[in-house]
Amino acid sequence: MLELKDLHFSIEEEDEQGQQVVTEIIKGIDFTFEKGKFYAITGPNGGGKTTLSKLIMGINPVTSGKIIFEGKDITDLSITDRAKMGIAYGFQHPARFKGMTFRDLLAIAAGTNDKETLVRILARVGICTIEFLDKEVGSKLSGGEIKKIELATIIALNPKLAIFDEPDTGIDLWTIGPMVELLKKQQEEHGTTTIVVSHNEKFLEAADELILIRGGKIAHVGGFEESLPLLKDDEFCSWKSICEGGTLCSIQ
Ligand SMILES: Nc1ncnc2c1ncn2[C@@H]1O[C@H](COP(=O)(O)OP(=O)(O)OP(=O)(O)O)[C@@H](O)[C@H]1O
Ligand SMILES: [Mg+2]
Repeated sequence: MLELKDLHFSIEEEDEQGQQVVTEIIKGIDFTFEKGKFYAITGPNGGGKTTLSKLIMGINPVTSGKIIFEGKDITDLSITDRAKMGIAYGFQHPARFKGMTFRDLLAIAAGTNDKETLVRILARVGICTIEFLDKEVGSKLSGGEIKKIELATIIALNPKLAIFDEPDTGIDLWTIGPMVELLKKQQEEHGTTTIVVSHNEKFLEAADELILIRGGKIAHVGGFEESLPLLKDDEFCSWKSICEGGTLCSIQ
C-alpha cells in the first residue's frame, strides 16, 4: 500500500565559514509496507527515523526517489492532500494550540461534535474525565496529556495509514501497554496500516515487522525474535557507531 523507492533526503546548511554544505540524512531507502500490517521502526538516536516518517507525511520534501501510496505517486503532494488520501501523523513533539480546546481538535478530527462519540474516543486513549474535553490544548497540559490527545485525534480520523513518531514519549508506565493494545485493535478492526517509531520493547514486540534504521539506511528488517540479537548487540547501536557516523564527533 506504500512503496518507498530509493528515497533520499538532504539538507543544505551554512557551515561556520559561511560555506553552503549539503548533508545527506536519508541515504536511499527502498521498502514496501503492506496493507493492514503493523510496523515498528527503531534504531539509534539520530539515525533518521523521524526524518523518514516526515518524508512519508510530506512534512519534509523528498530530495530524490519516489513515494507511492495505493498505486499513486504522492512524492510531490502536500501534507493536506496526503491527509485527504487517508494518511495521518503523530509528532514526536506535538504542537500546542493556544486558545483551542481538546473538544475543538477532536471534533475536527472526528467530524462530529456529538459529546457521546467524543467521550468514547477519550475513553479509548485512557482519558476518563469529560472535563478534559474543555481543557485548552496550550500550556496547561502535561507532555503526556498532549501525546494522548494527539493519539485520540488520529484514532478519530480512522486513517488508512497511521504514522506515530514515538507515541510513548512522556507516557506513564500504566498507559503504554493499553496504548499498544489500542493501536493493535485499530489495526485489526479497521485495517489501519500502522507505522510506529519507537524505542519501547512493547511496541517492537507487537509489530508484524521491525525495521531498523541506522545512518539514514535500513540496516535490518525482520520479526522481533529474529531481530533480538541485533537489538542487544552493543556494537550495532553503540555510541561508537554513532560517532563513526559523524554525529557526535564534532561535540567531542
Ligand atoms: N532540518 C534539519 N536540519 C539539520 N539536521 C537535521 C534536520 N533534520 C534532521 N537532521 C539531522 O538528521 C539526523 C537524523 O535525525 P532524526 O530526527 O531523523 O533522527 P531519529 O532517528 O528520529 O532520532 P531520535 O531517536 O533521537 O528521535 C540527525 O543527525 C539530525 O540532527
Ligand atoms: Mg526521532
